[in-house]
Amino acid sequence: MAKNFYITTPIFYPNAKLHMGHAYTVTICDILARAQKLQGKETYLLTGADENTGKILKVVEEQGQTVEEYLNQVTLNFKDLYSKLGISYDQFIKTSDKETHWPGAQALWKKLVETGDIYKATYSGLYCVGCETFYTEKDLVEGKCPVHLTVPEKIEEENYFFKLSKYTQIIKEKIESNELLIVPQTRKNEIVALLDRGLEDISFSRPIKNVPHGIPVPGDPSQVIYVWCDALVNYISALGYGRNTELFEKFWPANVHVIGKDILRFHAAIWPAMLLSAGLPLQKSLLVHGLITSGGHKMSKTLGNVIDPYELIEEYGFEAVRYYLAREVSPFEDGDLTKERFKESYNANLANGIGNLTSRIMKMAQDNLDAPVSIAEREDMSQYFAFYDSFEISKAADFVWNEIKSLDQYIQENQPFKVVKTDKEAGQKMIGELVVRLYSVARMLNPILPETSEKIKALIKENKTPEVPLFVRKD
Ligand code: MSP
Repeated sequence: MAKNFYITTPIFYPNAKLHMGHAYTVTICDILARAQKLQGKETYLLTGADENTGKILKVVEEQGQTVEEYLNQVTLNFKDLYSKLGISYDQFIKTSDKETHWPGAQALWKKLVETGDIYKATYSGLYCVGCETFYTEKDLVEGKCPVHLTVPEKIEEENYFFKLSKYTQIIKEKIESNELLIVPQTRKNEIVALLDRGLEDISFSRPIKNVPHGIPVPGDPSQVIYVWCDALVNYISALGYGRNTELFEKFWPANVHVIGKDILRFHAAIWPAMLLSAGLPLQKSLLVHGLITSGGHKMSKTLGNVIDPYELIEEYGFEAVRYYLAREVSPFEDGDLTKERFKESYNANLANGIGNLTSRIMKMAQDNLDAPVSIAEREDMSQYFAFYDSFEISKAADFVWNEIKSLDQYIQENQPFKVVKTDKEAGQKMIGELVVRLYSVARMLNPILPETSEKIKALIKENKTPEVPLFVRKD
């Protein structure tokens, strides 16, 4: 079995605060990485910021900051949320970083030029400055940009283009054969259908005036590299592509890029085409998750249903947020989150579930056992970890909480706390077995609730019941 595991989050735009949707992506990446680490793999979790966007220029100007100052502040905010969520990442890549990212993006560009896949052409289209996007007539609503409701500018400009169309067939074959695995199947079908319709060549650069802080096109300083050969390249520039090969050789191809369904086309068509053109191996898989909604609706300020991850962390603790995202949201579909459901699930599964169970078992152990239960180091958990190998995070969580339920039932049916009073030896044996099973629950909890996992193990080693409940009930 391969020894290394490389997993990536998308890189986030710095023009908005991270919300629950972003928290979801990074949390599941962290859970998947921890699960692989527990299986003995050397893991590498990459995350970062997609900074070369013109969208920030207005804000920067208004706040009287330099682009660099603004971006550094945003990075601190991102990192703050990660640390509050208990995310253990290995690198935070910034695409404005001229030392790490730019050499990679420019090296890849040159490689595509060498292959003969980049050419210059005149691009004409309807450009919305707010979206930084070209629209076609049929995208417009009454002749206006559907997002900003402003009339787009008709623009004609010289651009470099990438021969995406050339790679349609080969990418389709690789996806159909699962050489590039797309999970879930519905997303795979969606992308195969798109490939069946054919891909058109895409515009690959922009005039430097649009994004003055963007990455210059090698050999043509009047143009900057457009998002594709900039943002997507982060997955390899972070590993040193274009400057230092050590990490790159160790971790590329990535085991999985975790993405939301809205950026599937970029990752399942454009990125593989670029890698093929450069003669590099393709990422092994894409995990495409759904969107987090609230009360069945997309979170929006107007609806007033935006849920701030900080607020939930503050009130319930970071592990409660990790628990909800792991168990109550399927990684393959849209998932709903309301404050009411969050509280209900917290009380039922954390306060009552694992919290209460730990107190019950460890109280019996503390009162009735003469010494801590000794735990065998080796235990076969392959059935449990198989869920993570196929990205079935909520099923993995179900597996643990089923075991928690069955321990609760065992205590209720067999009442070891009573048995120990009449038949000490038999009672002690039952309690000892419960402690062993609680230990394996603690082991399994590690990817989802890393702190609680350690707390339970420590209590077992000291044969003590927790002084305060692991999760305090909320009314
Ligand atoms: N910068 C690009 C990605 C480039 S990757 C080379 C981008 N950034 S983003 O900040 O807009 O979004 C990043 C990720 O957050 C996407 O995967 C997107 O699907 C995800 N989400 C944004 N809103 C979301 C929800 N409400 N729910 C779940 N994920 C959502 O796109």
